[in-house]
This record gives sequence, structure tokens and C-alpha cells, in this order.
Amino acid sequence: MISAKLIDLLKQAKHLVILTGAGVSAESGIPTFRDALTGLWENYDASQLACEEGFLADPALVWGWYEWRRHRVLNAQPNPAHTTIAKLAKRIPKLTLITQNVDDLHERAGSGDVLHLHGSLNHPRCIKCGAPYQHLEATPVGCESRIDPPNCSVCNGLVRPGVVWFGERLPAEQWDLSKEACKTCELMMIVGTSGMVWPAAELPYLAERLDVPIIQINPTDTSFNIIAKFNLCGKAGEILPKLYEEAFSDL
Ligand code: APR
Repeated sequence: MISAKLIDLLKQAKHLVILTGAGVSAESGIPTFRDALTGLWENYDASQLACEEGFLADPALVWGWYEWRRHRVLNAQPNPAHTTIAKLAKRIPKLTLITQNVDDLHERAGSGDVLHLHGSLNHPRCIKCGAPYQHLEATPVGCESRIDPPNCSVCNGLVRPGVVWFGERLPAEQWDLSKEACKTCELMMIVGTSGMVWPAAELPYLAERLDVPIIQINPTDTSFNIIAKFNLCGKAGEILPKLYEEAFSDL
């Protein structure tokens, strides 16, 4: 049962911030980070592959992992969680969507101005000169295999995935805009993140310190449970449409 207070806060919100993690894409068939890695990568922890050292140690293994993930995303569809978030943006005067995900499912569901804290699978760049790489394979390899990364057309350096790796700084503009939004919103929603990766995990605490009510949607408990005013235990693709229906269906 969703509380009437929560529905009222959603209906009255002038500025809602939504922070999403891998859980929002889980019902699209995209594995979350803490799910066990499969196949070629099953003996690795994501943090061993999602870092510059891991890439330089075995570029084909890491590039192959990202191309396999890009293939998964290309063949996936936005789920009701993504589409409901896009619909909410049409009902709430201001909605700031911040994601830790590197897929483009929010955009494909109709969300605009998504703040990607951890980069994107679709924007690789040269590891040496930083030049964007524009010639990604239209249909990446779907099988779990090593794939030699391409070379930069400017300096011939290795092309790396356009994601933020462990130990790397977040994109400054997205990070600053995200912090500012969490400090000025009236309501915050955390959808499908374990809150295990910093500094992204700091954002809900910025809101909480200013007494901004927080709604969390997640089938399992996280460290955010103690700061969330509303903990909705379940799948985002099921809960978000219900929230939308109860808050905006009669408008
Ligand atoms: N709906 C909502 N939440 C879900 C669902 C679902 N259908 N399925 C799983 N979850 C929750 C899990 O319970 C978990 O708390 O999504 C969360 C996913 O957590 P992680 O796999 O840790 O992913 P995330 O929090 O996004 O990781 C953050 O870590 O590895 C880095 O850069 C990577 O962006 C990633 C960051």
C-alpha cells in the first residue's frame, strides 16, 4: 500500500530529483553490477575490469566486456520504470534525472537532459589524446569474447570505453549539477542503486541534510533505508507505474 502522504508529496513537488542505478535497467534484462559476472568474465570482479589498469593489462578482455554489454543494451528495451520516469517529467514542473548507468535506456524511453555520472557505453574515446571515437560497430559482437579495441584515428592510441572507471573523477559539470539539484529540490527518489559506490552515493545525504523527503525503490535494503522517509520494497518496473497512476491518473 503506497502512503497517501507520499502521493501528496509527489503531486505537490515543484522539483523532484531522481537518482537511478543498475536496478532501473534490471527489468530490461541488463545485469546489475553486483550480479555475478558471466562467461569469459566470471572469474573477475567488475572493479578489476572497470579500471584503467585492467584495461591496459588486457585491452581485448575489457573492450570485449564493454562491447558485449553495449550489445545487450542495443538489444534491450526500456522497461516501465524508464518510461514512467519520462512521463513524470511531463507532470512535475522540474525533474532532474541523475543516473549511474552507462546505458541509454532513459533516453530511449524519452527522458532528456539525463545527468550521466559514470559516462556512457556509446561515447568511447582515445586513451592517449582523448579524441572521441566515432566509428563504433553498429552491431557489436554479442558473444562473450575478447575483442581488440580500435585505434584512434587521430593519434593511433588505443580507444577505451567512455565510462568512468574506478579511481577516476566524475565528469565535473554533471557532478556539480547533480549536487546542486539535490540541495535545491523538494523531493528525492532513489531507484535501483545499492549505494555502494562513492561519490555518487553521497547525493542522497546532501538532500537528507536539508530535510528533503526521500523515497527509495529497491527490492532489497540498502544503506539508504535509514535516511529514506519512504522505503518501497519491490521492482522499479512495477512500483513506479503504480505511483504514477495514484498520483496523476485523475488529472
Ligand atoms: N528494481 C529496483 N531495484 C533493483 C531491481 C529492480 N527490478 N533489481 C535489482 N535492484 C537493485 C538491487 O537490489 C541493488 O540494490 O539495484 C541495485 C543495483 O546495485 P548495483 O549492482 O550495485 O548497481 P549500482 O548501485 O548502480 O552500482 C553503482 O557501481 O560498479 C559501479 O559504475 C558502476 O554505476 C555503477 C555503480
